Amino acid sequence: DGKYTVSLIEGDGIGPEISQSVKDIFSAANAPVKWETISVDPVFKDGKQSIPDDAIASITRNYVALKGPLATPIGKGHVSLNLTLRRTFNLFANVRPCKSIQGYKTPYDNVDTVLIRENTEGEYSGIEHVVVDGVVQSIKLITRDASERVLRFAFQYAQDIGRLKVRAVHKATIMKMSDGLFLSCANEIAKDYPNVEFDAELLDNACLKIVSDPTPYNDKVLVMPNLYGDILSDMCAGLIGGLGLTPSGNIGDECSIFEAVHGSAPDIAGKGLANPTALLLSSIMMLQHMGLTEHASRIQAAIFKTLAEGKTITGDLGGKAKTHEYAEAVIKNL
Ligand code: IPM
Ligand code: MN
Repeated sequence: DGKYTVSLIEGDGIGPEISQSVKDIFSAANAPVKWETISVDPVFKDGKQSIPDDAIASITRNYVALKGPLATPIGKGHVSLNLTLRRTFNLFANVRPCKSIQGYKTPYDNVDTVLIRENTEGEYSGIEHVVVDGVVQSIKLITRDASERVLRFAFQYAQDIGRLKVRAVHKATIMKMSDGLFLSCANEIAKDYPNVEFDAELLDNACLKIVSDPTPYNDKVLVMPNLYGDILSDMCAGLIGGLGLTPSGNIGDECSIFEAVHGSAPDIAGKGLANPTALLLSSIMMLQHMGLTEHASRIQAAIFKTLAEGKTITGDLGGKAKTHEYAEAVIKNL
């Protein structure tokens, strides 16, 4: 039928409601996407947490998935399912564009940066143990392979989007060996991209500078180890209005999963109050990734128009609209 099948993980809490908005807007826009809804409720294989075989098969078959929020337990218990997904499919690069939304006012009106986060190792390796009572070790694992892979991706990405400046963000003054390796890989890979300007900046300095004035970061692609990217991407999201407005894509060699970075918001789940924008913008990244650029642009323009009009926006943005009213307004603006 000329449609592309995409795996859909609706997620927990507000996940199903915001997924419904994406589905409604996609069908109104005649986006050639057929959804295959899958559950990733964890299963255990040899005592190890995994995602169900049919979910793995679906994503492997379709190459592309869209994912709502999955609740992550704090402290003891299962590994975050979010991480299990990233690991299972070896989604090594996490792309997080952060761009001001015209019409949605924050103290910063001109943010337009892209963060690329190493997505498989670092402090997220899950290697932790008790040394003796009261003393624990969490291993930050940095490998040349994973560093080179994400750095190469970042340079390639910079070239593809015509933003010919890559900056590595690190803390090699303290993490001398791990970030030192990441940084030396960056210097090496940079040589393969002579047309891309390369430099590096300490993480703390980058935080200070970007909240003071984000504009010098506008023409750059920032690339960094996993945990730094987690934190810095939330900080950048804060500049433009929060996690309700920022998209994200987990990219691998075989498949990719596009997801909203915010939580499952159990307090408002089922009430029709959630803001689907982050998931929508992630679904637009997904369309672009699939080469469906016309549909992507059309839906994106309708979202931005709706946000700029400001009459039909959700509570988190200071409006009164229900989730479905916002989606209907976007559809009108298509
Ligand atoms: C994110 C989230 C995840 C992370 C959580 C949910 C495991 O905060 O995608 O940034 O820490 O990577
Ligand atoms: Mn995060």
